[in-house]
Formats: sequence, structure tokens, C-alpha cells
Amino acid sequence: MSEVFHRIRRLPPYVFEHINPIKAKARAEGVDIIDLGMGNPDLPTPEHIVNKLKETVADPRTHRYSTSKGIPGLRKAQASYYGRRFGVKLNPDTQVVATLGSKEGFANMAQAITAPGDVVLVPNPTYPIHSFGFIMSGGVVRSMPADPNEDFMRSLDRAVRHSIPKPIALVLNYPANPTAYTADLDFYTEVVKYCKANDIFILSDLAYSEIYFDEAPPPSVLQVPGAMDIAVEFTSMSKTYSMPGWRVGFAVGNERLIAALARVKSYLDYGAFTPIQVAAVAALNGSDEVVDEVRKIYKHRRDVMVESFGRAGWSIPVPRATMFAWAPIPDQFAHLGSLEFAKLLIQETGVGVAPGVGFGEYGDQYIRLAFVENEQRIRQAARNVKKLLGGKTGQGNVVPLKA
Ligand SMILES: Cc1ncc(COP(=O)(O)O)c(C=O)c1O
Repeated sequence: MSEVFHRIRRLPPYVFEHINPIKAKARAEGVDIIDLGMGNPDLPTPEHIVNKLKETVADPRTHRYSTSKGIPGLRKAQASYYGRRFGVKLNPDTQVVATLGSKEGFANMAQAITAPGDVVLVPNPTYPIHSFGFIMSGGVVRSMPADPNEDFMRSLDRAVRHSIPKPIALVLNYPANPTAYTADLDFYTEVVKYCKANDIFILSDLAYSEIYFDEAPPPSVLQVPGAMDIAVEFTSMSKTYSMPGWRVGFAVGNERLIAALARVKSYLDYGAFTPIQVAAVAALNGSDEVVDEVRKIYKHRRDVMVESFGRAGWSIPVPRATMFAWAPIPDQFAHLGSLEFAKLLIQETGVGVAPGVGFGEYGDQYIRLAFVENEQRIRQAARNVKKLLGGKTGQGNVVPLKA
């Protein structure tokens, strides 16, 4: 009998498993950790959504098994969102599935469409499920650049021509986690044209559809005429409505892919608890003001982070979307790589971050900082970091671990 199971051997420990014990030890010693590591929204779910859940849960009829592809009202609400936000018309019965968070939807889509040895093109660095969803399903991942710049189409063509067998799918994720790269409709148009010509499915992760800071909101790949023939897209309630623990997301788009996902899910789950789905309907059909508010808070935190870390001597490129900054490791620490630098940050400054290598080997010169602490604490984190970077001590009062 093998010591380690076949699938488990293909899943390295989540990167936070290296960091969390250090964080826990520091906390146990009384250090106030300012945690910019996980992208776990700290804002409360808006009250009207919580109230809808409370009201619905009182009805015993909602306590039975729900439906694995989502209640009709929820699929309809998601179709209307796509209509008003992107001008994309969706059939709620055949082109929309509600998922237990977009992560579950993505992983089960990978499972539904992958045969052993199938090649999939995945950005690197990227959110881990984009690659490991396929690896768990027996697929083979070929890395693509995450940056949708002028070289992207050349890289795509090279990857397709040199992959044997030919890739079955391409993963896109804009606005991107962890890099915060964004893409426009011209980019999607070129990619769709190429993938259609080469019979490659597109899986687009649009979890940050509403967390953007520019005038122009991020587009959907489904806005490209004909994209529906080859593309599905995943969206999430987690960030848009600060509902990460509720586990509600969606897959929409190509009917064949959506049917495949629905089939797999019908064997695995009975859908989210009905009151959660009803509350999600209230969120989607409710006022956009709550979403504007969430966006405003993340934008403010972004500005505070870029400004205060910049003054501390750590220059951070300004992210145009998502709830993350993707910051090159400061020169004097670049030789450490991202994991060792992340450990050093916790030990010496009490600031928790995500090491870039956790998102793929091409992320190892970067650190991801999430906007999940309030303005005051972000400023405090910057003051603590300033000490490590050799700047003058601010008014920080962190107790360094080794003190
Ligand atoms: C790009 C991306 N996709 C998907 C997810 C997962 O979201 P959900 O809570 O809907 O599963 C995240 C969460 O951080 C993410 O960053």
C-alpha cells in the first residue's frame, strides 16, 4: 500500500500551512498580528441580506434538501445581473448553475470536463484552484503568463502549438488574484477568436467583477459575440456582498459545460441551504448601494496601503481592482524569496502576508497584501514594516517577536 495517496501526492500543503504556526506562536506570545495574508473579507454582510436569511429560516419548508443547481429564483436573479451589468442574455434554466462558492463550481467543472492527461492552460501565478482543480481531476497543467499584455497571444499560440495532446481549455482570471491584473474587451475578443478557431474552452473566473477602482468596470468574456459557444464564467457573492462564509457563487455560459457541471453536482450535493439561497436572491435583486459601499472601502484601504507602505520604503504598484496589492519584495530582501520574507515579516514586524510562491513559481519575487484590515491597522502595519526596511521608526508600538 502506498504511503501517500495518489491524489494527495499531487497537492502540496497550502502555503499558509507554513505561515500559520509562526502566526499562532506570535499570537500566543501576545503579539498583535496585523493579518494582510488571507483574502478573507472582514466586512459584515449587509443587514437586509442577514434579515432575509433569518426570516426564511423560520419557515420549516426551507429545511428540506434544496436543489443542487440552485433554486429557480436564484438562477433568475443571476441571469438578470448579467443582463443589466454586462448586457449578456442568459437562460436561467440552461445557462446558469448556482454553486457552493465559485471555488466549488470551478473545481467541479474541472472534474466534469477533464480526462486523465488532458492539458489545460493556466496562468502562473494564480489562485490555486485554477491549477489544482485540474490536477485533482487527473489533468496536466501548462503555465501561461498571468499578464494580459501584448505578448499574451504569442504565448498562447506557442503553448497550443507545443502541447501534446492539444489543450482542452484555457483559464482566465481578470481582475486577477493575486496579481490584480485587469483585462479589457479587446483582449477577450482576441482570445475568444483564437480559442474558437482552435476548439479550446475558456473558463473565466470573474470573482472580482465588482471590486474595481477605475471608472470602467471589468467586462465579462461573455460580452464577446459568440463567446457562449466555448466559454463559461464564474462569479461569487463572497467579495461583492461580503458573504465569504455563506458559500454562494455561480457558473454561467455555454450550455454543454453548464449541463456537465450540473450533472456532477447532482451526484455530490443538494445545493446550499435554501434560506441562504433566498437571502442571496435578496442581495442580487437589492440595491447596488451596498456594493458601492464595499468598493469604496476597499478603494480607500488600497490608497492608504500604497501611500503608507510607500512612505515606509516599500513601493507598491497601485492595483486597479481586487482586494489585493501585488508587491515586489524590497530589493534588500529579494534573495530570500517570498516564503522566507513572509516569515521574516511576521517575526520582525507582526505583519502577516501571503508569499507569492503560494500562487505559483513565477510569483516567488512577490508578496500579496490583502485589504482586510481597517485603515488604522494598515497604517500601523506600514510603521512596523518601516523599521525592518531600515527607515526611521514611526509611532509603531508593535512588540517584535524576538524582543
Ligand atoms: C480569483 C478567485 N476566485 C475564486 C475565489 C473563491 O471565491 P468563493 O468564495 O466564491 O469560492 C477567490 C477567493 O479568494 C478568488 O480570489
